[in-house]
Amino acid sequence: MSEKPEEMSKFFDDRATGYDEHMHGMFQDFDSFYKKISKPIIVTEKPVKVLDLGCGTGNQLKGIFQKLPNARVTAIDLSEEMLGKLKEKYPSYLKQIEIVQGSYLTLPFSACFYDYVVSVYSLHHFTKDVKRTLYEKIKKSLKPEGMYIEGDCVVSADMEAQLLANYQQLVTKELSNDLYHVDIPCSLQTQINLLQDAGFSKVDVIYHDEDEEAAIIVAQV
Ligand SMILES: C[S@@+](CC[C@H](N)C(=O)[O-])C[C@H]1O[C@@H](n2cnc3c(N)ncnc32)[C@H](O)[C@@H]1O
Repeated sequence: MSEKPEEMSKFFDDRATGYDEHMHGMFQDFDSFYKKISKPIIVTEKPVKVLDLGCGTGNQLKGIFQKLPNARVTAIDLSEEMLGKLKEKYPSYLKQIEIVQGSYLTLPFSACFYDYVVSVYSLHHFTKDVKRTLYEKIKKSLKPEGMYIEGDCVVSADMEAQLLANYQQLVTKELSNDLYHVDIPCSLQTQINLLQDAGFSKVDVIYHDEDEEAAIIVAQV
């Protein structure tokens, strides 16, 4: 990792066009993965509240709206261009989506407000400390029966250590804040530990594919 990484928002602004096609090409089971994200969600016509962290072009929203047709979604992303693609993809749901351009690391979340918080392929850019703090914030934002669903890359414990060591070298040398595009996914066990440390009462892995290095974890308040 020798070159200075790009700022996160610029990285995704530059790749918003063609992002969905790229993701389809990268993951053999793209459709079934995104379907699994909404699997734990209980079907209802009620206007339940959903917070989507790093929503990007909204790939996870298709399955969410199928199960929650009247959901009120707060969709947060740093990248204006990714949010623009989301708006193009969901014209009939725009009245139900509050789009917020900014960082979920610093934006405040309403307390005890959301039925579901979801995040897909966004948190593998952050260190364990940053994630733990975010998980605590997510837990506080959920209602007592609320659920956090995260889908993301996971790697082996050895790879986690290696990527983190590379990242730490880079940070001390070049980077001044957290919002750079660097991939530092955790192992599945680290993910589970972080969610438990943040105070979630029950943490379940509902999907794990070692070959695709992908997992979906559900955490209950
Ligand atoms: C790989 S994309 C995933 C998008 C979408 N969730 C999906 O699964 O297709 C990661 C997204 O997270 C966003 N992101 C990364 N860090 C963020 C932060 N701190 N706050 C808000 N959005 C962030 C990026 O701008 C990007 O759109």
